[in-house]
Amino acid sequence: MCVVGARPNFMKIAPILRALATHSPRLPAFLVHTGQHYDQEMSEQLFADLSLPKPDVNLEVGSASHAIQTAEVMRRFEPILDTHQPSSVLVVGDVNSTLACALVAAKKGIPVIHVEAGLRSFDRRMPEEINRVLTDQIADRLYITERSAALNLEREGVGAQRVVFVGNVMIDSLLFHRPSARRASATLSHHGFDPNVLLDPNGYGLVTLHRPSNVDTAPVLRELLSVLREVSTRLPLVFALHPRTRANIERFGLSDFIDARRIVILPPQGYLEMLGLLADAAVVLTDSGGLQEETTALGVPCLTLRDSTERPITVEQGTNAVVGTDRSAILACVTDILAGRGKRGRVPELWDGHAAQRIAADLGQWLQTAAADVGESCPPH
Ligand code: UD1
Repeated sequence: MCVVGARPNFMKIAPILRALATHSPRLPAFLVHTGQHYDQEMSEQLFADLSLPKPDVNLEVGSASHAIQTAEVMRRFEPILDTHQPSSVLVVGDVNSTLACALVAAKKGIPVIHVEAGLRSFDRRMPEEINRVLTDQIADRLYITERSAALNLEREGVGAQRVVFVGNVMIDSLLFHRPSARRASATLSHHGFDPNVLLDPNGYGLVTLHRPSNVDTAPVLRELLSVLREVSTRLPLVFALHPRTRANIERFGLSDFIDARRIVILPPQGYLEMLGLLADAAVVLTDSGGLQEETTALGVPCLTLRDSTERPITVEQGTNAVVGTDRSAILACVTDILAGRGKRGRVPELWDGHAAQRIAADLGQWLQTAAADVGESCPPH
């Protein structure tokens, strides 16, 4: 049983479902969408872009506080497990749906598989960090994207025999879909903007922001938008607005900051549009986890507007720099990048488009072992 809930889950599950379907013997999958994300732009569009099958079940939990959202997923997921009795539950990433479904399965003695395990920002103020730590504690099979994750797990007492380094399924999706990416100019035209804005001698920057720590308090959001406005005097910016950020900009009365000639505001983008915008950008300014990885895979300079990253390999080997929210640091990095002094980086080990196949191969064997162990009270840790 494979679980998705929020936008960053969809590009991770797509290659896994393909790999399970083509594995021999076939590993049948049942897809549960918790409904954490439900908008056309945040969910359905991504399903279409990624050719994901319609979910077998949608729990339709929607938005709420963390406690209510997590609890609702758990409450609605439990009877699905009872009815369908899967051999295992596979969760991806670090969103509330990931933890909620892992917890329900673990308490029922159903083996939990966690894809993208072991990443740590070491910042417990991030809801995702709590989700990551707890999911990994109760997972039976943990697939990691970079070797540093194994060390994090070892420190937390997760047995090495549960951990498998497979690479990055997010990059599987990127490589698979790259040929069908939509050109940035076509995306701008589609939304009624003049695509010539992208032809600035400096190119253009792509922006996404949605972390609560950046967008939920007025002074922080105001400062960030003001920095972005300043950056836009150097190169035009394309800003794909997450619904949380859009709502807060309105709530805090900050719309003037983004009402600039060289800032193009777009709604949340489909996967193929985002790939096109990313691939051609001169720089990406973001607080997203996934974009840090995608820019590293594409060799595009990335400035992470956070104080930490749970994906250190994107800094050590890739094109990512963690710059926080400090105005002078951000502007200095933009200057460097525009002067051709941005990080070049290289593509990390096993980010090769075949991570999902490695997962399917390992999982097939591991589930066989689990089946052979019937009668034992614990799943095969
Ligand atoms: C969630 C994940 C985050 C991930 C992000 C990607 C958690 C804790 N957070 O954050 O890790 O990076 O998804 O987007 O799971 N909303 C809509 N339409 C939707 C979904 C949400 O308008 O389809 C609005 C609602 O006002 C909602 C707010 O966005 O309250 C936040 O949604 P939520 O799912 O709680 O968290 P995200 O900020 O999207």
